[in-house]
Amino acid sequence: MHRIFWTIFPIIPGVFSLNNGVGKLPALGYDTFNAFGCDYNASIVAAQVETMQELGLVKAGYNTLILDDCYALKERNATGHMVADPDKFPHGIEALSSHVNHHGVQLAAYGDNGYQTCAGYPGSYGRELQDLQTWHSWGMSYLKYDNCYIPADNITQENMLGRFQRMSDAIAEFAQNTNNTFHYSLCEWGWQQPVIWGHRIAQSWRNNGDIKPYWSALAAIMNEASFLWWASDFYGHNDMDMLEVGNNGIGTPPGNLTYEEEKSHFTAWALLKSPLFIGTDLTKASKQSLDILGNRDLIKINQDPDVGESISPFRWGVNADYTFNATHPAEYWSGNTSYGIVFMILNSQDTTQEMSFNLTESWAIRAGRQYSVYDLWSHEDVGIAVRNISMELPAHGVSALLLNDAGPEPEEYDASCGFFYQCSVRLTHLSPI
Ligand SMILES: *[C@@H]1O[C@H](CO)[C@@H](O)[C@H](O)[C@H]1NC(C)=O
Ligand SMILES: *[C@@H]1O[C@H](CO)[C@@H](O)[C@H](O)[C@H]1NC(C)=O
Ligand SMILES: *[C@@H]1O[C@H](CO)[C@@H](O)[C@H](O)[C@H]1NC(C)=O
Ligand SMILES: *[C@@H]1O[C@H](CO)[C@@H](O)[C@H](O)[C@H]1NC(C)=O
Ligand SMILES: *[C@@H]1O[C@H](CO)[C@@H](O)[C@H](O)[C@H]1NC(C)=O
Ligand SMILES: *[C@@H]1O[C@H](CO)[C@@H](O)[C@H](O)[C@H]1NC(C)=O
Ligand SMILES: *[C@@H]1O[C@H](CO)[C@@H](O)[C@H](O)[C@H]1NC(C)=O
Ligand SMILES: *[C@@H]1O[C@H](CO)[C@@H](O)[C@H](O)[C@H]1NC(C)=O
Ligand SMILES: *[C@@H]1O[C@H](CO)[C@@H](O)[C@H](O)[C@H]1NC(C)=O
Repeated sequence: MHRIFWTIFPIIPGVFSLNNGVGKLPALGYDTFNAFGCDYNASIVAAQVETMQELGLVKAGYNTLILDDCYALKERNATGHMVADPDKFPHGIEALSSHVNHHGVQLAAYGDNGYQTCAGYPGSYGRELQDLQTWHSWGMSYLKYDNCYIPADNITQENMLGRFQRMSDAIAEFAQNTNNTFHYSLCEWGWQQPVIWGHRIAQSWRNNGDIKPYWSALAAIMNEASFLWWASDFYGHNDMDMLEVGNNGIGTPPGNLTYEEEKSHFTAWALLKSPLFIGTDLTKASKQSLDILGNRDLIKINQDPDVGESISPFRWGVNADYTFNATHPAEYWSGNTSYGIVFMILNSQDTTQEMSFNLTESWAIRAGRQYSVYDLWSHEDVGIAVRNISMELPAHGVSALLLNDAGPEPEEYDASCGFFYQCSVRLTHLSPI
Protein backbone atom coordinates (compact mmCIF):
# COMPACT_ATOMS: atom_id res chain seq x y z
CA MET A 1 0.00 0.00 0.00
CA HIS A 2 2.74 2.47 0.88
CA ARG A 3 3.81 2.66 -2.76
CA ILE A 4 0.76 4.79 -3.50
CA PHE A 5 2.57 7.48 -1.53
CA TRP A 6 5.05 7.81 -4.40
CA THR A 7 4.26 9.73 -7.51
CA ILE A 8 5.73 8.78 -10.84
CA PHE A 9 7.43 11.50 -12.84
CA PRO A 10 7.83 11.05 -16.61
CA ILE A 11 11.29 12.02 -17.87
CA ILE A 12 11.47 10.94 -21.48
CA PRO A 13 8.79 8.92 -23.24
CA GLY A 14 8.92 5.36 -21.96
CA VAL A 15 11.26 6.09 -19.07
CA PHE A 16 9.88 6.74 -15.59
CA SER A 17 11.83 7.89 -12.60
CA LEU A 18 10.95 7.64 -8.98
CA ASN A 19 10.00 11.09 -7.72
CA ASN A 20 9.50 10.97 -3.97
CA GLY A 21 10.46 14.62 -3.65
CA VAL A 22 14.22 14.23 -3.17
CA GLY A 23 17.19 14.06 -5.51
CA LYS A 24 15.95 16.01 -8.52
CA LEU A 25 19.51 17.27 -9.07
CA PRO A 26 22.82 15.43 -8.62
CA ALA A 27 23.95 15.47 -4.98
CA LEU A 28 26.94 17.63 -4.03
CA GLY A 29 29.07 16.92 -1.01
CA TYR A 30 32.01 15.18 0.57
CA ASP A 31 32.71 11.49 1.18
CA THR A 32 35.42 10.26 3.56
CA PHE A 33 36.46 7.20 1.54
CA ASN A 34 38.92 8.39 -1.13
CA ALA A 35 40.79 10.61 1.27
CA PHE A 36 40.83 8.47 4.44
CA GLY A 37 39.53 4.95 3.81
CA CYS A 38 38.65 3.63 7.30
CA ASP A 39 41.03 5.98 9.02
CA TYR A 40 38.86 8.91 10.03
CA ASN A 41 37.14 10.24 13.15
CA ALA A 42 35.08 13.15 14.48
CA SER A 43 37.94 15.66 14.51
CA ILE A 44 38.97 14.80 10.96
CA VAL A 45 35.40 15.17 9.70
CA ALA A 46 34.93 18.44 11.57
CA ALA A 47 38.15 19.81 10.04
CA GLN A 48 36.96 18.91 6.53
CA VAL A 49 33.61 20.60 7.07
CA GLU A 50 35.19 23.72 8.56
CA THR A 51 37.57 23.91 5.59
CA MET A 52 34.70 23.38 3.16
CA GLN A 53 32.95 26.36 4.65
CA GLU A 54 36.07 28.55 4.78
CA LEU A 55 36.84 27.84 1.14
CA GLY A 56 33.31 28.72 0.02
CA LEU A 57 32.59 25.14 -1.05
CA VAL A 58 29.50 24.90 1.16
CA LYS A 59 28.20 28.08 -0.43
CA ALA A 60 29.00 26.57 -3.85
CA GLY A 61 26.56 23.76 -2.98
CA TYR A 62 28.58 20.98 -1.33
CA ASN A 63 26.23 20.42 1.59
CA THR A 64 26.25 16.67 2.34
CA LEU A 65 29.02 14.71 4.08
CA ILE A 66 28.91 10.93 3.81
CA LEU A 67 30.50 9.04 6.68
CA ASP A 68 31.62 6.16 4.49
CA ASP A 69 32.43 2.66 5.77
CA CYS A 70 33.85 2.09 9.29
CA TYR A 71 32.02 4.53 11.58
CA ALA A 72 30.30 1.84 13.72
CA LEU A 73 31.36 -0.87 16.13
CA LYS A 74 31.57 -4.27 14.45
CA GLU A 75 28.86 -5.67 16.75
CA ARG A 76 25.34 -4.36 17.10
CA ASN A 77 24.09 -3.90 20.68
CA ALA A 78 21.65 -6.21 22.46
CA THR A 79 18.63 -4.60 20.79
CA GLY A 80 20.26 -4.91 17.41
CA HIS A 81 21.10 -1.23 16.98
CA MET A 82 24.25 -0.07 15.29
CA VAL A 83 26.53 1.74 17.69
CA ALA A 84 28.85 4.56 16.69
CA ASP A 85 32.49 3.75 17.45
CA PRO A 86 33.19 5.69 20.67
CA ASP A 87 36.92 5.92 19.93
CA LYS A 88 36.25 7.65 16.62
CA PHE A 89 33.24 9.64 17.84
CA PRO A 90 33.85 10.31 21.57
CA HIS A 91 30.79 12.58 21.77
CA GLY A 92 28.64 10.43 19.50
CA ILE A 93 27.56 11.03 15.91
CA GLU A 94 24.61 13.22 16.92
CA ALA A 95 27.00 15.77 18.40
CA LEU A 96 29.13 15.76 15.25
CA SER A 97 25.95 16.12 13.23
CA SER A 98 24.86 19.29 14.99
CA HIS A 99 28.40 20.65 14.75
CA VAL A 100 28.48 20.25 10.96
CA ASN A 101 24.92 21.59 10.68
CA HIS A 102 26.25 24.87 12.03
CA HIS A 103 28.54 24.96 9.02
CA GLY A 104 25.71 24.36 6.57
CA VAL A 105 26.42 20.64 6.07
CA GLN A 106 24.31 17.56 6.80
CA LEU A 107 25.87 14.20 7.66
CA ALA A 108 24.92 11.28 5.41
CA ALA A 109 24.97 7.54 5.90
CA TYR A 110 26.74 4.59 4.35
CA GLY A 111 25.22 1.14 4.58
CA ASP A 112 25.19 -2.23 2.88
CA ASN A 113 22.46 -4.52 1.57
CA GLY A 114 24.23 -7.63 2.91
CA TYR A 115 25.23 -9.05 6.29
CA GLN A 116 28.29 -6.80 6.56
CA THR A 117 29.71 -3.70 4.94
CA CYS A 118 32.72 -4.10 2.67
CA ALA A 119 35.09 -3.45 5.59
CA GLY A 120 33.22 -5.86 7.86
CA TYR A 121 30.93 -3.55 9.86
CA PRO A 122 27.20 -4.26 10.35
CA GLY A 123 25.22 -4.63 7.13
CA SER A 124 21.52 -3.77 6.99
CA TYR A 125 20.05 -6.96 5.53
CA GLY A 126 16.89 -7.69 7.53
CA ARG A 127 17.33 -4.52 9.59
CA GLU A 128 16.56 -1.91 6.96
CA LEU A 129 13.96 0.06 8.89
CA GLN A 130 15.85 -0.13 12.16
CA ASP A 131 18.99 1.26 10.54
CA LEU A 132 17.05 4.06 8.83
CA GLN A 133 15.79 5.01 12.28
CA THR A 134 19.36 5.02 13.63
CA TRP A 135 20.67 7.14 10.75
CA HIS A 136 17.74 9.50 11.13
CA SER A 137 18.48 9.85 14.85
CA TRP A 138 22.01 10.87 13.82
CA GLY A 139 20.61 13.68 11.65
CA MET A 140 21.07 11.89 8.32
CA SER A 141 18.72 11.78 5.35
CA TYR A 142 20.98 10.51 2.54
CA LEU A 143 22.11 6.88 2.17
CA LYS A 144 24.90 5.40 0.07
CA TYR A 145 24.14 1.66 -0.07
CA ASP A 146 26.85 -0.86 -0.85
CA ASN A 147 26.92 -4.41 -2.15
CA CYS A 148 29.26 -6.57 -0.03
CA TYR A 149 28.54 -9.81 1.89
CA ILE A 150 25.18 -10.27 0.19
CA PRO A 151 23.19 -13.28 1.42
CA ALA A 152 23.32 -16.44 -0.69
CA ASP A 153 20.83 -16.98 -3.47
CA ASN A 154 18.87 -19.60 -1.51
CA ILE A 155 18.11 -16.88 1.07
CA THR A 156 17.22 -13.86 -1.07
CA GLN A 157 16.09 -15.61 -4.27
CA GLU A 158 16.38 -12.20 -5.85
CA ASN A 159 18.20 -10.23 -8.52
CA MET A 160 20.13 -7.00 -7.78
CA LEU A 161 16.99 -4.97 -8.28
CA GLY A 162 15.19 -7.04 -5.64
CA ARG A 163 18.09 -6.87 -3.21
CA PHE A 164 18.27 -3.09 -3.45
CA GLN A 165 14.49 -2.75 -3.52
CA ARG A 166 14.35 -3.92 0.13
CA MET A 167 15.90 -0.66 1.30
CA SER A 168 13.87 1.38 -1.17
CA ASP A 169 10.71 -0.10 0.33
CA ALA A 170 11.98 0.61 3.84
CA ILE A 171 12.70 4.21 2.81
CA ALA A 172 9.12 4.55 1.56
CA GLU A 173 7.76 3.07 4.76
CA PHE A 174 9.95 5.31 6.90
CA ALA A 175 8.85 8.34 4.87
CA GLN A 176 5.24 7.45 5.36
CA ASN A 177 5.71 7.08 9.11
CA THR A 178 7.82 10.17 9.69
CA ASN A 179 7.70 12.42 6.62
CA ASN A 180 11.46 12.03 6.24
CA THR A 181 12.48 10.75 2.84
CA PHE A 182 16.02 9.44 2.49
CA HIS A 183 17.90 10.21 -0.73
CA TYR A 184 18.96 6.73 -1.91
CA SER A 185 22.26 6.21 -3.71
CA LEU A 186 23.00 2.70 -5.04
CA CYS A 187 26.54 1.38 -4.99
CA GLU A 188 26.06 -1.79 -7.00
CA TRP A 189 29.15 -1.24 -9.22
CA GLY A 190 27.22 -1.67 -12.47
CA TRP A 191 27.01 -5.45 -12.07
CA GLN A 192 23.46 -5.88 -13.32
CA GLN A 193 22.70 -2.86 -15.50
CA PRO A 194 21.41 -0.41 -12.86
CA VAL A 195 21.10 2.12 -15.72
CA ILE A 196 17.96 0.20 -16.64
CA TRP A 197 16.28 -0.05 -13.24
CA GLY A 198 18.13 2.24 -10.81
CA HIS A 199 15.76 5.12 -11.44
CA ARG A 200 12.77 3.02 -10.37
CA ILE A 201 13.97 2.68 -6.78
CA ALA A 202 16.70 5.26 -6.19
CA GLN A 203 18.08 8.66 -7.10
CA SER A 204 21.52 7.55 -8.30
CA TRP A 205 23.44 4.39 -9.12
CA ARG A 206 27.08 3.55 -9.70
CA ASN A 207 27.96 2.03 -13.08
CA ASN A 208 31.50 0.98 -12.30
CA GLY A 209 33.76 -0.40 -9.61
CA ASP A 210 35.66 1.94 -7.31
CA ILE A 211 37.43 4.89 -8.89
CA LYS A 212 41.20 5.17 -8.46
CA PRO A 213 43.27 8.37 -8.49
CA TYR A 214 45.01 7.54 -11.80
CA TRP A 215 44.17 8.70 -15.32
CA SER A 216 43.61 5.13 -16.55
CA ALA A 217 40.73 4.74 -14.06
CA LEU A 218 39.15 8.06 -15.05
CA ALA A 219 39.42 7.28 -18.77
CA ALA A 220 37.76 3.90 -18.21
CA ILE A 221 34.82 5.49 -16.38
CA MET A 222 34.45 8.16 -19.08
CA ASN A 223 34.51 5.44 -21.72
CA GLU A 224 31.61 3.67 -20.03
CA ALA A 225 29.80 7.00 -19.70
CA SER A 226 30.17 7.44 -23.49
CA PHE A 227 27.55 4.68 -23.73
CA LEU A 228 25.45 5.28 -20.60
CA TRP A 229 24.95 9.07 -20.52
CA TRP A 230 21.30 8.68 -21.62
CA ALA A 231 20.25 7.25 -18.24
CA SER A 232 20.72 10.51 -16.31
CA ASP A 233 18.01 13.13 -15.98
CA PHE A 234 16.05 14.76 -13.18
CA TYR A 235 15.55 12.43 -10.18
CA GLY A 236 17.89 9.74 -11.48
CA HIS A 237 21.64 9.98 -12.09
CA ASN A 238 24.53 7.86 -13.22
CA ASP A 239 27.05 8.03 -10.37
CA MET A 240 30.56 8.07 -11.83
CA ASP A 241 31.91 7.70 -8.25
CA MET A 242 33.52 10.12 -5.84
CA LEU A 243 35.99 12.71 -7.04
CA GLU A 244 39.74 12.20 -6.90
CA VAL A 245 40.50 15.88 -7.52
CA GLY A 246 43.20 16.93 -5.04
CA ASN A 247 44.70 13.49 -4.53
CA ASN A 248 48.09 14.04 -6.11
CA GLY A 249 50.51 12.42 -3.67
CA ILE A 250 47.80 12.15 -1.00
CA GLY A 251 44.64 10.09 -0.48
CA THR A 252 43.97 6.36 0.00
CA PRO A 253 45.81 5.18 -2.10
CA PRO A 254 47.88 8.28 -2.99
CA GLY A 255 47.23 9.37 -6.57
CA ASN A 256 49.13 10.89 -9.47
CA LEU A 257 46.68 13.00 -11.45
CA THR A 258 48.06 16.06 -13.22
CA TYR A 259 46.35 19.45 -13.09
CA GLU A 260 44.99 18.90 -16.63
CA GLU A 261 43.68 15.46 -15.67
CA GLU A 262 41.93 16.85 -12.60
CA LYS A 263 40.25 19.51 -14.76
CA SER A 264 39.10 16.87 -17.26
CA HIS A 265 37.83 14.71 -14.38
CA PHE A 266 35.77 17.50 -12.86
CA THR A 267 34.45 18.72 -16.22
CA ALA A 268 33.23 15.27 -17.26
CA TRP A 269 31.65 14.42 -13.90
CA ALA A 270 29.88 17.82 -13.72
CA LEU A 271 28.58 17.90 -17.29
CA LEU A 272 27.54 14.23 -17.27
CA LYS A 273 25.36 15.17 -14.28
CA SER A 274 27.10 12.81 -11.88
CA PRO A 275 26.79 13.41 -8.14
CA LEU A 276 29.90 15.37 -7.12
CA PHE A 277 31.46 14.15 -3.86
CA ILE A 278 34.79 15.64 -2.87
CA GLY A 279 37.22 12.88 -1.89
CA THR A 280 40.40 14.64 -0.84
CA ASP A 281 41.82 15.97 2.42
CA LEU A 282 40.90 19.62 1.92
CA THR A 283 43.41 20.71 4.54
CA LYS A 284 46.21 19.35 2.31
CA ALA A 285 44.96 19.76 -1.27
CA SER A 286 46.66 22.31 -3.52
CA LYS A 287 45.14 25.71 -4.33
CA GLN A 288 44.81 24.58 -7.96
CA SER A 289 42.78 21.52 -6.96
CA LEU A 290 40.58 23.56 -4.63
CA ASP A 291 39.89 26.00 -7.46
CA ILE A 292 38.83 23.08 -9.67
CA LEU A 293 36.36 21.85 -7.03
CA GLY A 294 35.01 25.38 -6.72
CA ASN A 295 34.40 25.96 -10.47
CA ARG A 296 31.04 27.70 -10.16
CA ASP A 297 30.34 27.71 -13.89
CA LEU A 298 30.51 23.91 -14.04
CA ILE A 299 28.62 23.44 -10.77
CA LYS A 300 25.88 25.72 -12.12
CA ILE A 301 25.40 23.45 -15.13
CA ASN A 302 25.58 20.29 -12.98
CA GLN A 303 22.81 21.85 -10.85
CA ASP A 304 20.77 23.28 -13.77
CA PRO A 305 17.21 23.44 -12.40
CA ASP A 306 15.51 23.43 -15.83
CA VAL A 307 17.55 21.09 -18.04
CA GLY A 308 18.38 17.71 -16.49
CA GLU A 309 20.01 15.94 -19.40
CA SER A 310 23.66 14.97 -19.61
CA ILE A 311 26.09 15.87 -22.37
CA SER A 312 26.59 13.15 -24.97
CA PRO A 313 29.32 12.36 -27.47
CA PHE A 314 28.94 13.43 -31.09
CA ARG A 315 32.33 12.11 -32.23
CA TRP A 316 34.71 9.64 -30.61
CA GLY A 317 37.89 11.14 -32.09
CA VAL A 318 40.87 8.79 -31.77
CA ASN A 319 38.78 5.73 -32.52
CA ALA A 320 35.78 5.23 -34.80
CA ASP A 321 32.43 6.31 -33.36
CA TYR A 322 30.99 3.91 -30.74
CA THR A 323 34.31 2.17 -30.15
CA PHE A 324 34.45 0.85 -26.57
CA ASN A 325 38.01 1.55 -25.49
CA ALA A 326 39.00 2.15 -21.86
CA THR A 327 42.03 4.26 -22.85
CA HIS A 328 40.28 6.42 -25.43
CA PRO A 329 36.77 7.48 -24.41
CA ALA A 330 34.79 9.71 -26.76
CA GLU A 331 36.50 13.09 -27.11
CA TYR A 332 33.82 15.38 -28.58
CA TRP A 333 30.70 15.98 -26.50
CA SER A 334 27.87 18.50 -26.36
CA GLY A 335 24.49 19.06 -24.76
CA ASN A 336 21.86 21.57 -23.84
CA THR A 337 21.73 23.67 -20.68
CA SER A 338 19.61 26.58 -19.49
CA TYR A 339 22.58 28.81 -20.19
CA GLY A 340 23.51 27.79 -23.73
CA ILE A 341 24.85 24.79 -25.63
CA VAL A 342 27.77 23.26 -23.79
CA PHE A 343 30.73 21.48 -25.40
CA MET A 344 33.35 19.30 -23.74
CA ILE A 345 36.41 18.49 -25.80
CA LEU A 346 38.76 15.96 -24.27
CA ASN A 347 42.26 15.00 -25.40
CA SER A 348 42.52 11.31 -24.49
CA GLN A 349 46.05 11.06 -25.87
CA ASP A 350 49.34 11.25 -23.98
CA THR A 351 50.65 14.16 -26.06
CA THR A 352 49.42 17.65 -27.00
CA GLN A 353 46.88 17.50 -29.83
CA GLU A 354 45.18 19.86 -32.24
CA MET A 355 41.44 19.32 -31.75
CA SER A 356 38.80 20.65 -34.14
CA PHE A 357 35.09 20.24 -34.79
CA ASN A 358 32.31 21.70 -36.92
CA LEU A 359 29.64 23.34 -34.77
CA THR A 360 26.90 21.49 -36.64
CA GLU A 361 28.34 18.13 -35.67
CA SER A 362 26.39 18.77 -32.43
CA TRP A 363 22.66 18.11 -32.57
CA ALA A 364 21.98 21.24 -30.54
CA ILE A 365 23.54 23.81 -32.88
CA ARG A 366 21.61 25.56 -35.65
CA ALA A 367 23.27 25.62 -39.06
CA GLY A 368 23.87 28.97 -40.74
CA ARG A 369 24.19 30.75 -37.37
CA GLN A 370 27.21 32.09 -35.53
CA TYR A 371 27.72 31.60 -31.79
CA SER A 372 29.32 33.55 -28.98
CA VAL A 373 31.71 31.40 -26.96
CA TYR A 374 32.24 31.48 -23.19
CA ASP A 375 35.07 29.46 -21.64
CA LEU A 376 33.93 27.60 -18.50
CA TRP A 377 37.49 27.38 -17.19
CA SER A 378 38.81 30.90 -17.88
CA HIS A 379 35.35 32.27 -17.05
CA GLU A 380 35.38 34.76 -19.91
CA ASP A 381 33.92 35.36 -23.34
CA VAL A 382 36.47 34.23 -25.88
CA GLY A 383 34.91 35.38 -29.15
CA ILE A 384 32.45 34.45 -31.89
CA ALA A 385 32.57 31.03 -33.57
CA VAL A 386 31.51 30.54 -37.17
CA ARG A 387 31.20 26.98 -38.48
CA ASN A 388 34.00 25.40 -36.51
CA ILE A 389 36.28 25.66 -33.47
CA SER A 390 39.89 24.52 -33.29
CA MET A 391 42.15 24.40 -30.27
CA GLU A 392 45.30 22.84 -28.92
CA LEU A 393 44.86 20.69 -25.84
CA PRO A 394 47.63 19.30 -23.60
CA ALA A 395 47.84 15.57 -22.81
CA HIS A 396 44.57 14.46 -21.13
CA GLY A 397 43.43 18.12 -21.21
CA VAL A 398 39.95 19.48 -21.59
CA SER A 399 38.05 22.43 -22.99
CA ALA A 400 34.57 23.33 -21.74
CA LEU A 401 32.70 25.94 -23.78
CA LEU A 402 29.26 27.47 -23.59
CA LEU A 403 27.85 28.65 -26.93
CA ASN A 404 25.00 31.08 -27.46
CA ASP A 405 23.35 32.07 -30.73
CA ALA A 406 24.76 35.35 -32.04
CA GLY A 407 22.72 35.73 -35.23
CA PRO A 408 23.17 34.58 -38.82
CA GLU A 409 26.63 33.83 -40.20
CA PRO A 410 28.41 36.77 -41.90
CA GLU A 411 27.33 37.08 -45.55
CA GLU A 412 30.78 36.44 -47.03
CA TYR A 413 30.51 32.77 -45.96
CA ASP A 414 29.77 30.53 -48.91
CA ALA A 415 26.50 28.67 -49.26
CA SER A 416 27.97 25.23 -48.54
CA CYS A 417 26.92 23.22 -45.54
CA GLY A 418 28.75 22.12 -42.42
CA PHE A 419 26.57 19.04 -42.58
CA PHE A 420 27.28 18.62 -46.24
CA TYR A 421 25.45 15.47 -47.33
CA GLN A 422 22.40 16.12 -49.52
CA CYS A 423 22.91 19.87 -49.25
CA SER A 424 22.35 21.97 -52.35
CA VAL A 425 22.12 25.62 -53.36
CA ARG A 426 18.88 26.67 -55.07
CA LEU A 427 19.69 28.10 -58.51
CA THR A 428 18.36 31.64 -59.13
CA HIS A 429 16.76 30.85 -62.51
CA LEU A 430 14.40 28.41 -60.83
CA SER A 431 11.23 29.87 -59.41
CA PRO A 432 11.67 31.18 -55.85
CA ILE A 433 9.95 29.37 -52.97
C1 LIG B 1 21.23 0.02 21.59
O1 LIG B 1 21.42 1.31 21.03
C2 LIG B 1 20.25 2.07 20.90
C3 LIG B 1 20.58 3.37 20.16
O2 LIG B 1 21.58 4.03 20.80
C4 LIG B 1 19.64 2.33 22.26
O3 LIG B 1 18.44 3.07 22.11
C5 LIG B 1 19.37 1.00 22.93
O4 LIG B 1 18.90 1.25 24.24
C6 LIG B 1 20.62 0.18 22.97
N1 LIG B 1 20.30 -1.11 23.49
C7 LIG B 1 20.92 -1.61 24.54
C8 LIG B 1 20.44 -2.97 24.99
O5 LIG B 1 21.81 -1.03 25.10
C1 LIG C 1 41.45 11.62 15.07
O1 LIG C 1 42.58 11.20 14.35
C2 LIG C 1 43.65 12.13 14.41
C3 LIG C 1 44.74 11.63 13.48
O2 LIG C 1 44.95 10.26 13.64
C4 LIG C 1 44.12 12.25 15.86
O3 LIG C 1 45.17 13.19 15.95
C5 LIG C 1 42.96 12.72 16.72
O4 LIG C 1 43.32 12.75 18.08
C6 LIG C 1 41.77 11.79 16.54
N1 LIG C 1 40.61 12.34 17.20
C7 LIG C 1 39.76 11.57 17.84
C8 LIG C 1 38.56 12.26 18.38
O5 LIG C 1 39.93 10.38 17.96
C1 LIG D 1 20.91 -22.19 2.15
O1 LIG D 1 21.95 -23.15 1.97
C2 LIG D 1 22.73 -23.41 3.16
C3 LIG D 1 23.84 -24.39 2.85
O2 LIG D 1 24.30 -24.26 1.57
C4 LIG D 1 21.85 -23.98 4.23
O3 LIG D 1 22.62 -24.17 5.41
C5 LIG D 1 20.71 -23.04 4.52
O4 LIG D 1 19.81 -23.65 5.43
C6 LIG D 1 19.95 -22.71 3.23
N1 LIG D 1 18.97 -21.70 3.54
C7 LIG D 1 17.74 -21.74 3.09
C8 LIG D 1 16.82 -20.62 3.51
O5 LIG D 1 17.36 -22.60 2.33
C1 LIG E 1 3.46 14.76 7.22
O1 LIG E 1 3.30 16.04 6.63
C2 LIG E 1 1.95 16.36 6.34
C3 LIG E 1 1.91 17.67 5.58
O2 LIG E 1 2.80 18.58 6.13
C4 LIG E 1 1.17 16.40 7.66
O3 LIG E 1 -0.18 16.65 7.38
C5 LIG E 1 1.30 15.05 8.36
O4 LIG E 1 0.67 15.12 9.61
C6 LIG E 1 2.74 14.68 8.56
N1 LIG E 1 2.83 13.31 9.07
C7 LIG E 1 3.67 12.94 10.02
C8 LIG E 1 3.66 11.49 10.40
O5 LIG E 1 4.45 13.71 10.58
C1 LIG F 1 49.99 6.46 -11.58
O1 LIG F 1 49.98 5.45 -10.60
C2 LIG F 1 49.52 4.19 -11.07
C3 LIG F 1 49.40 3.25 -9.89
O2 LIG F 1 50.59 3.19 -9.21
C4 LIG F 1 50.49 3.68 -12.12
O3 LIG F 1 50.02 2.45 -12.66
C5 LIG F 1 50.58 4.70 -13.25
O4 LIG F 1 51.58 4.31 -14.17
C6 LIG F 1 50.96 6.07 -12.69
N1 LIG F 1 50.90 7.04 -13.77
C7 LIG F 1 51.86 7.89 -14.01
C8 LIG F 1 51.66 8.82 -15.15
O5 LIG F 1 52.86 7.93 -13.33
C1 LIG G 1 42.24 1.44 -27.75
O1 LIG G 1 42.46 2.33 -28.82
C2 LIG G 1 43.82 2.49 -29.17
C3 LIG G 1 43.88 3.58 -30.25
O2 LIG G 1 43.11 3.19 -31.35
C4 LIG G 1 44.41 1.17 -29.63
O3 LIG G 1 45.77 1.33 -29.91
C5 LIG G 1 44.23 0.15 -28.53
O4 LIG G 1 44.67 -1.10 -28.98
C6 LIG G 1 42.78 0.05 -28.13
N1 LIG G 1 42.66 -0.83 -26.99
C7 LIG G 1 41.89 -1.90 -27.01
C8 LIG G 1 41.86 -2.71 -25.76
O5 LIG G 1 41.23 -2.20 -27.98
C1 LIG H 1 17.62 23.96 -24.21
O1 LIG H 1 16.82 24.04 -23.05
C2 LIG H 1 16.09 25.25 -22.99
C3 LIG H 1 15.43 25.29 -21.62
O2 LIG H 1 14.57 24.20 -21.47
C4 LIG H 1 15.10 25.29 -24.13
O3 LIG H 1 14.41 26.51 -24.10
C5 LIG H 1 15.87 25.17 -25.44
O4 LIG H 1 15.00 25.08 -26.52
C6 LIG H 1 16.76 23.95 -25.45
N1 LIG H 1 17.62 23.97 -26.62
C7 LIG H 1 17.76 22.91 -27.39
C8 LIG H 1 18.70 23.07 -28.53
O5 LIG H 1 17.18 21.86 -27.19
C1 LIG I 1 36.64 26.26 -40.45
O1 LIG I 1 35.73 27.03 -41.22
C2 LIG I 1 36.39 27.97 -42.06
C3 LIG I 1 35.30 28.83 -42.71
O2 LIG I 1 34.41 28.04 -43.44
C4 LIG I 1 37.22 27.23 -43.08
O3 LIG I 1 37.93 28.15 -43.88
C5 LIG I 1 38.21 26.33 -42.36
O4 LIG I 1 38.88 25.53 -43.27
C6 LIG I 1 37.48 25.43 -41.35
N1 LIG I 1 38.47 24.72 -40.58
C7 LIG I 1 38.34 23.42 -40.30
C8 LIG I 1 39.40 22.82 -39.45
O5 LIG I 1 37.39 22.75 -40.72
C1 LIG J 1 33.41 20.00 -41.40
O1 LIG J 1 32.83 20.77 -42.43
C2 LIG J 1 33.62 20.75 -43.64
C3 LIG J 1 33.01 21.75 -44.63
O2 LIG J 1 31.73 21.38 -44.97
C4 LIG J 1 33.64 19.33 -44.18
O3 LIG J 1 34.45 19.27 -45.32
C5 LIG J 1 34.23 18.43 -43.12
O4 LIG J 1 34.21 17.10 -43.53
C6 LIG J 1 33.47 18.55 -41.82
N1 LIG J 1 34.15 17.77 -40.79
C7 LIG J 1 33.50 16.94 -39.98
C8 LIG J 1 34.33 16.18 -38.99
O5 LIG J 1 32.29 16.78 -40.02
